[in-house]
Amino acid sequence: MKVTVLKTAEEIGVAVAKIFTDEVKANPDCILGLATGASPIPTYNNIIKTHKEEGISFKGVKTYNLDEYCDLPKADKNSYYTFMHEQLFNGLDILEENVHFLDGNATDTDAECRRYDNEINEAGGIDIQLLGIGNNAHIGFNEPADSFTDGSFKVKLTDSTIEANKIYFDENPMPHYALTMGVNQIMSAKKIVLIATGPKKAEAVRNMIKGEVTPQVPASILQNHNDVEIFLDEAAASLL
Ligand code: GLP
Repeated sequence: MKVTVLKTAEEIGVAVAKIFTDEVKANPDCILGLATGASPIPTYNNIIKTHKEEGISFKGVKTYNLDEYCDLPKADKNSYYTFMHEQLFNGLDILEENVHFLDGNATDTDAECRRYDNEINEAGGIDIQLLGIGNNAHIGFNEPADSFTDGSFKVKLTDSTIEANKIYFDENPMPHYALTMGVNQIMSAKKIVLIATGPKKAEAVRNMIKGEVTPQVPASILQNHNDVEIFLDEAAASLL
């Protein structure tokens, strides 16, 4: 794991955006795995900035998002579909048919998860996967569990995750279920970049980097990947 500690979330955004825009420059048809939450927002702002300033085209890029809430209309302001369009896609020339999400409203969620996994595999797999980390060290929506998950699946969110994310839900109640890529699937990305900022992430970050590899700390599996870059601010790095 390559760990970089920077002073501010904005500096992290600049550094991580460069990793992604360099990839798009070198490989205009790359496959990107994307994440939601507050952590990647400065990265997305800086990707849009570079796209506009340097004229890098995203027309050949395909994206696959990590997860999506169940039982929330796609157009809801809190769906990850809406988040990604507002925070990133609307500022790029990416093609709508090239952005992909799990459908949290599918009636047959198992079939939906298999469809998504197959599509990623058929596209050639993810070149760079962006991750945040939950306060309980979840990645995507892979909550602490007895074993590491494999492909995409429907998950019941933990109280800790509901507590952390419910601040965004003022109209509809926060869903208690989501569809998420599985841990092994995340691990199959060629490169992984994880961002963690703020003091609430410090314990999860320490356990991810210094603790044993255990499904009770889902992000600890990243110790077994050969190309992981972790970007922290000083607060998130304070227990290392
Ligand atoms: C959600 C997402 C995760 C994200 C986490 C942390 O649970 N499913 O992918 O990493 O939130 O979010 P934040 O960056 O807002 O702390």
